[in-house]
Formats: sequence, structure tokens, C-alpha cells
Amino acid sequence: MYRSHTCGELRKTHIGTKVILSGWVQKVRDKGFVVWIDLRDRYGITQLVFDEQRTTATLLSEGRKLGREFVIQIHGEVIERTSKNPQLSTGDIEILVSELKVLNQSLLPPFTIEDETDGGTDLRMKYRYLDIRRNPVKNNLIFRSKVAMEVRKYLSDEGFIEVETPYLIKSTPEGARDFVVPSRMNQGQFYALPQSPQTFKQLLMIGGLDKYFQIVKCFRDEDLRADRQPEFTQIDCEMAFVEQEDVLNAFEGLTRHLLKEIRGIEVEKFPRMTYDEAMRIYGNDKPDIRFDMRFGELNAVARHKDFQVFNSAELVVGIAVPGGATLTRKEIDGLTNWLRRPQIGAKGMVYVRCNEDGSFKSSVDKFYDQEDLKKWAEATQAKAGDLICILSGETMSTRAQLSALRMEMAERLGLRNPEEFAPLWVIDFPLLEKDEETGDYHAMHHPFTSPKPGQLALLDTDPDAVRANAYDLVLNGNEIGGGSIRIHDKKVQASMFRHLGFTEEEARAQFGFLMDAFQYGAPPHGGIAFGLDRLVAILGGQETIRDFIAFPKNNSGRDVMIDAPAPIDEAQLEELNLRLVDNEE
Ligand code: AMO
Repeated sequence: MYRSHTCGELRKTHIGTKVILSGWVQKVRDKGFVVWIDLRDRYGITQLVFDEQRTTATLLSEGRKLGREFVIQIHGEVIERTSKNPQLSTGDIEILVSELKVLNQSLLPPFTIEDETDGGTDLRMKYRYLDIRRNPVKNNLIFRSKVAMEVRKYLSDEGFIEVETPYLIKSTPEGARDFVVPSRMNQGQFYALPQSPQTFKQLLMIGGLDKYFQIVKCFRDEDLRADRQPEFTQIDCEMAFVEQEDVLNAFEGLTRHLLKEIRGIEVEKFPRMTYDEAMRIYGNDKPDIRFDMRFGELNAVARHKDFQVFNSAELVVGIAVPGGATLTRKEIDGLTNWLRRPQIGAKGMVYVRCNEDGSFKSSVDKFYDQEDLKKWAEATQAKAGDLICILSGETMSTRAQLSALRMEMAERLGLRNPEEFAPLWVIDFPLLEKDEETGDYHAMHHPFTSPKPGQLALLDTDPDAVRANAYDLVLNGNEIGGGSIRIHDKKVQASMFRHLGFTEEEARAQFGFLMDAFQYGAPPHGGIAFGLDRLVAILGGQETIRDFIAFPKNNSGRDVMIDAPAPIDEAQLEELNLRLVDNEE
């Protein structure tokens, strides 16, 4: 038997008990006549004691020789501590050691295995197994497991069944590039790893399974950000015989359950907002509604004077930053420079200070009078003491810039409280999105999404106007889930592919199987997929998903611990009938 108890278990009530513990040496404190050791495992830390009076000289010297992260087993007796440690759950007791066995030695770890470590990100990723021994990482993984368990519990109680779908498939278009896998048995041919199980879950509905879910890995070869990994996990769901309302209600139920079970928070019915509203009011299709700073459009009240910047702009729009009137000129210049950085791309910013006495002072006083500025304050709902920040230009890019400013100001003002949860459904997404460079249309969600009833004909005349039964679930400004009601009619699906620029042959080659299946009694169906990594991170009060993944990739898509991706040897290439092209030749 390696242990009778864990290192997080023993209390005052155990005093006098003989125990066996196993774990890692966190710390050795050698006072000469007495040696204390902190023994750690997943469950906690227990203090061990060796001393001149009560343990043998050999044992004391063995204890003294232990190094950090040695794996040991001890036998001993639980005794009361003279100086208690209220920070530790086991802080009332210690173990007087009578036997010590070193189960394994350890090299000196490259960083300290403590909550606050001296290791940088790269080092911690290289030795991720040591990083996982630290409480913050370990607790995140335990937290993730708890969320996944609650998801399974809730969905299976609601009658969903978990079905696994294959990883070696053909391309599923979710807007990213595919990771491909060469086939040895079918030389010159490739599988694609799923960007999502989208087509398979639709086939499961045709198979009559009615309610499906899967906690599943998805693979997307796209540029990485704090909320994106090349392989990530979805809670993927699909239901048959449903309308949008049924799907929203079912998954609002799941989200509410998680907020309650995981965070102890009861949330009212989730608000809903159309995509168009979200863009107009927050300049963003995933608005953080924990705070206001709603956009006020100023076209009607700012383009009647000689200020050419506004007169020539498609959109003049502002936000009122609470308490911002106290910002100094220098601080405002700093903000303007922040907006001018290439990542944001604004040309400049006009501001209005709303003074406590009800008067206004603006950077464009030359052109506008107090009456004008009063109207701007009304449109942006500015109060005395606020600073109105105004941007202008082409509609979409100006909205994006002001949205970035809104988030930045909220961050600076501490309005993004991670303990507060503000879910929001964004609905009625456009069906298509235009590539401004090529003029081509592609599906905003994916090509299996159905247009709103009665809007199919609009595809030919006004494609930008077509709205879809597509929805996103937004939590604290993050898109945590997205889904839609699907097309279940072969002709509609074929027409959709045509509008997306597929030839009939291409559509047939890529998605013939799905269109064929539609001919055998496909029920109306729809669903959603949550990003589990994102959901877990946000429920955990954070936004970086890497911290909630056991073995994440770095920003270049590398696993620095196992050193992947890596070249493969000649023989393997040959077997796959693959040849590396030498650029030098
Ligand atoms: P979508 O592409 O919106 O929909 O993805 C669903 C959710 O998955 C999460 N997500 C990611 N998380 C981490 N890293 C990534 N690279 C990444 N990409 C996406 C997001 C997102 O909301 N098949 C459809 C769903 C459906 O229609 O039912 C789909 O995959 O939280």
C-alpha cells in the first residue's frame, strides 16, 4: 500500500493515528536538530517532521538529504503542531516520521513549483508536467473536468445521447484551413481532420437519433490568439424537429445550469439582440454588455458645419466614457495614439469634455457650438463628467475601431468584472458575407445554415439582405457558442452551394453524401456548438484558453514539450508516397 491518506486529508481528529503518505517533496527546512518537509500531492500539503529527540539519527540524516520534487513514501504518526498554519487545511497537524522510502529521485526542477513561479511561459510549456503540479494549473484542469461533467449530466438528463464521430474525414468548411493526413493505403489521397463534426451530426439526425451531443476535439489551421487553439474542444449538439426558439431555450437551459452549478449564479432570461443591433449599438457581433458605453450615431447632428472630416465620413459615431472629463490633454493624446496604431487603424479622434457645470469643451470648438455639442451628449447618453470620444469614416471599420476603444476604456475603468456574468444571444446573422477584395460571397456561419423562411429568393436579388436562422451565444464579450437551423432540402442545399460559387461537380464531390442523404427523409433540424475551452476559461474568470488546456500549443502552433510538428523520416515519406520539394533545386 502506497498510502493510507492523501496529503490534503489529515486534521486534528486524526491525532494519534498511524498513517502512510506518498507524494512529492515541496520544501525541506533544515534547522539542524529538526528537519521539516512539506509533502505535496494533488490534494494538498502535509508537513513532515524529523527531529533529534524523536527520530533516529539515520532517519534524520536521510530526511535532510531529500531534494525538491523527490517522490517519497513515509510511515508516521499524526501529531499536533506547536505552531499552527491557518493557511493550510492540514495546518493543525504534522507527521512524526518513523520510516522513509525514496520512490524516485528528481533533478532540480527548472522553475519553482509554487503558485507564484519564477518560470516564464516557454519554460513552463516545455516542462508542462511540472507546471501541472502547480495549484493554478492543476485547479484549472480540475475546474474544466467539473464543467465537462456538469455538461454531460445536464444533456443526458435532457435526453441527449453522446455519439462519437470520426476524425479521419473530408473537409468540413467552417472557415479555416484543414489539417490533412496522408493515407498510406490510398496513395496520393488525404483525409482532413474535422474543423467540426457538422456534417456527421446532421447525418445522425437523418439517422433518427433526435438529440445528439459530443464533447469533441476540432482542428482548425488558423492564426492563433488568446482565445484560439489549433485543436480545441467543442460541446457539439444537434436536435431534430426544432425551430430556432427550441434550440435557444435548450441551450440557455444548459448555460443557466452551468452558471448555477459552477458559479452559484442565477441569471434571468438571457437578453437577445439582432446582429444588426449589436453592430449599431456596440460595433461588434459579440458585445460585452456588462457595461454600457453604447454607441451614439451622430450623422444627423454633426455633418451640418464646415468640418470636412465629418462631412465626408459615411459614419460619425461616439461613446461617452464615464468620468472621462478628468483625463488630461496628454492622456487624451495617448488615447488618440493608441487608436492610430496599425492594429486599430483610426485616423484620429474628436473629443468633448462634458463639464460638471453643464458646459462642453471639445477639440472641434472652432466648428461646433454648445447647442451642437449638447445634441452629441444626448445621442451618446453622456452625463456631466464624461468624455465623449468620436470617430468617423467608413461604417464597418469605424465601428470596429470604436468598439476596440470601448473595450479598452472598460478595461482601464475596471468595468470588465470577471465575477459578473452577462450572457447574450445574438440572432439573425446575415447568411452571407462578402469578401471586399474579391467580391465573392461566403457563408457567414457555414454553408449548411438555412436562410430565414421566405428569404431564399432574395439570394439572387439582394444577397447582403438575406438573414439566417443563425445565432451566437456571447458571454462577457466572448463568442462561446454558435449554431443555426440547417437546410434539410437537397434543392435548397444545391442552390446554396451555387450561390457560394461551387460548381455542381465541386459540390457533388465534396458534399454529395449529404445531399444524397437529404433525399431519404431528412427531418428539419438544427443545433449549436459551444467552445468548451472558452466556456471554461470565462466561467473561471479568465480569457486565455491555454491556461485551461493540459497540453496546449504555443502561438506558432507548436507543442514545445514534445517538439511537434517535426519532420518525418525518408522511409515514412516513401511509404506515404510523399516527396519533399527542395526549394534550392
Ligand atoms: P463555430 O465555428 O462557431 O461553429 O464554432 C463553435 C464554437 O467553437 C469555439 N471555437 C474555438 N475555440 C477555440 N479555438 C478555436 N480555434 C475555435 N474556433 C471556434 C467558439 C465557437 O463559438 N459546426 C458549427 C456549430 C453549429 O453550427 O452547430 C461550428 O463549429 O466558442
